[in-house]
Amino acid sequence: MIGALRSTAGIVSVGKAVPARVVTNDELATRIDTSDAWIRERTGIAERRISGVDEFASDLGIAAAQQAIDRAGIAPAEIDFVVCATCSPDSYFPSVAATIADRVGAHAAGAVDVSAACTGWVYAVNHAVTQIQAGLAEHVLVVGSETLSKVLNWEDRSTCILFGDGAGACVISAGAVAETVLGIELGADGAHGNDLIVGALRGTKVIEMDGPAVFRFATRVMVDSTRRLLDACGLAIGDVDWFVPHQANARIIEAAAGRLKIGSERTIVNIDRYGNTSAASIPLCLEEAWSDGRLKKGDRVLMIGFGGGLTWGSCLTEWAASNAPGAAG
Ligand code: ACO
Repeated sequence: MIGALRSTAGIVSVGKAVPARVVTNDELATRIDTSDAWIRERTGIAERRISGVDEFASDLGIAAAQQAIDRAGIAPAEIDFVVCATCSPDSYFPSVAATIADRVGAHAAGAVDVSAACTGWVYAVNHAVTQIQAGLAEHVLVVGSETLSKVLNWEDRSTCILFGDGAGACVISAGAVAETVLGIELGADGAHGNDLIVGALRGTKVIEMDGPAVFRFATRVMVDSTRRLLDACGLAIGDVDWFVPHQANARIIEAAAGRLKIGSERTIVNIDRYGNTSAASIPLCLEEAWSDGRLKKGDRVLMIGFGGGLTWGSCLTEWAASNAPGAAG
């Protein structure tokens, strides 16, 4: 599905939380047959955060959500809905979203998890925006939280080097911006679902991936989805201030950005420090770019996700958060 609409919904705040433990490529190389040089060159990753044995997606999600709520300056009771994108939940149920809603005090909110793997963030933002657009919600808390380290085969060097844990969160509110164009494209191709799978009920409890196939898919859909979305919005590449791609592999980002002729100065990348945090990767980028003053109120932001399903999604929005304390301009 694809569409552009006029809306006053916007991201008014952002928060993040990552585990304290840093695992470098060199540390991985002491356990499996790999090297810092190979991982950096093929993926752009230098290190990632790994959760403790008792640290789950809800724990990281609560911390990120709390920060986003505090920064939004709203009371938790004002939140109408909590949507959490995760493919590494604490349990099949209860949902991570219901746990987060309870722990942050959003007791008036409905809550649901979204499962679209690394595209989950864009799907969750779509839930928020459409509920606001329908008049059902004024404030929606959107969280992306993952502990994929718990579903990795730590002896499979082609997958375990890629992923890390973390969480990001945003509050999306009605009336945050003057009515402006907001575009969303969501897609899925279940025929190729086995290219990237955790078959929990089919005996494979860890990530299995056809890396080169996913690489080709990712590069293609990032380019195609961006073009389709901008066409639907009546905009060009030059009209976008910031591209925030899912962080799966620096080479995927470079290949897609190169084909779209998007300069690195407009692309937000932090894969070097976190690896692929799946549904958390885009909000982690947003939080860091807002905190360091790059993302400013009124900027046009294009988020682009892809991942298991196979799924993809892109979303164009106007950044509505006040500039970070201390940010220039
Ligand atoms: N260290 C050293 N050598 C390695 C490693 C490693 N960690 N991993 C693989 N190799 C070797 C392979 O065994 C192979 O050796 P061979 O030629 O002797 O057989 C060689 O490196 C090349 O392997 P390729 O798989 O062809 O390497 P490639 O350049 O494709 O990189 C990678 C592999 C990084 C996995 C890449 O394919 C990729 O990033 N794919 C996309 C991953 C992705 O985007 N996933 C999204 C997940 S999103 C979600 O929803 C969860």
